[in-house]
Amino acid sequence: MSSKQKCVVLGVTGGIAAYKACEILRLLQKRGMDVFVVMTKNACRFVAPLTFETLSGHPVAVDTFERPATWEVEHIALAKRADLFLIAPATANIIGKMANGIADDMLSTTVMATRAPVMVAPAMNTGMWDNPATQENVKKLIARGVHVVTPASGHLACGDSGAGKLEDVNVIAERAIAVLEQEKDLAGLRVLVTAGPTREALDPVRYVSNRSSGKMGYALAENAAMRGADVTLLTGPVSIEPPAGVTVVKFTTTQDLLDRALEHAGSQDILIQAAAPADYRAEEVAPQKIKKNDGEPLVLRLVENPDVAATLGKAKRDDQVFVGFAAETNDVTAHAQGKLVKKNLDMIVANDVTRPGAGFDVDTNIVTLIEPDAMRALPLMTKTEAAGHILTRAKELLDAKRA
Ligand code: PMT
Repeated sequence: MSSKQKCVVLGVTGGIAAYKACEILRLLQKRGMDVFVVMTKNACRFVAPLTFETLSGHPVAVDTFERPATWEVEHIALAKRADLFLIAPATANIIGKMANGIADDMLSTTVMATRAPVMVAPAMNTGMWDNPATQENVKKLIARGVHVVTPASGHLACGDSGAGKLEDVNVIAERAIAVLEQEKDLAGLRVLVTAGPTREALDPVRYVSNRSSGKMGYALAENAAMRGADVTLLTGPVSIEPPAGVTVVKFTTTQDLLDRALEHAGSQDILIQAAAPADYRAEEVAPQKIKKNDGEPLVLRLVENPDVAATLGKAKRDDQVFVGFAAETNDVTAHAQGKLVKKNLDMIVANDVTRPGAGFDVDTNIVTLIEPDAMRALPLMTKTEAAGHILTRAKELLDAKRA
């Protein structure tokens, strides 16, 4: 399905990141979207409506109580015209209004009236983002099916460092396009995705873990859900919000992950294991906080964890497709091929995590899809795009098995 001629209504709210909405608008236009802009009054303090008017080629709708004659009509017309309603940047204020049914200006009224999919890309001070009120509001939106592009962490304009930075504009545009282009080709299928790291306790305050952010797995879960699948997301401890419309099951340790996965695997059509489970755990978890010992080295004895993928692979039926990931730093293809066989997978997604833009805690990945007798290397792309390719291939493999 082509996204050409599709209409995106872009809501811009008042934050320092408002200027980045210009770039988002251009990226969407480059992909053939017709973009209409709605601004809050505060947004106009950061960027003049004329800028968006010139870039979009359409009048910009602002909080126009000054023009009561057209206001009602205008907001309903825009709400109906939207194929996607994207608010970027989205302040704590607009998120709070949306979550609590407040419609008191042009943007909040228009977004309330729309029946199109809604996506918000929050940007705000870390304290505001972390505030329980904001977090609760975000959860409410997700529960109602709103797509939330979790803000990135970094140095913020206010001088603070932490979560709250508007996600990269390319990622936001990709996510928007993915929502618009999605066909429901996975409708009727059950897809299980594992994501994120495990934590293996050493004592009551310390644990062994890894750098997995969950982004790759969450992108897979989101893509599968948008394509109509019934998605279960098994997630380790991460700081990003799960996508809308998926069943979330949490795990902490590798054993936990195995237990949860065993409960669900039998009922799935496609199982994709993007989690990064720890291969080892402490042989004994110290009951009290481990103390320093006069300069003596601390010796930790680790024992092997179960291999979740290999355990599940043993019970795989002929009508199921199991996909694994391989995070490698050397001999990437050989190691991945070894795991493909050992874990009885239909496909393994190899990422060379030494390459810039690939692997842990970034928004992009460089992956190679490896099957028993085929291999396809994909270029650098967003994790959203990579997720699309992986699921498309998994579906083809499933169709072939069931033909
Ligand atoms: O989460 P992000 O920051 O977005 O990063 C994404 C990622 C790098 C974590 C992801 O793309 C990835 O490569 N995930 C697999 C990481 C990993 O643990 O690779 P592995 O080679 O150790 O494991 C191979 C496969 O076996 C994986 O599917 C893994 O889920 C599974 N496994 C591993 C160990 C174990 N004890 N049990 C398992 O099931």
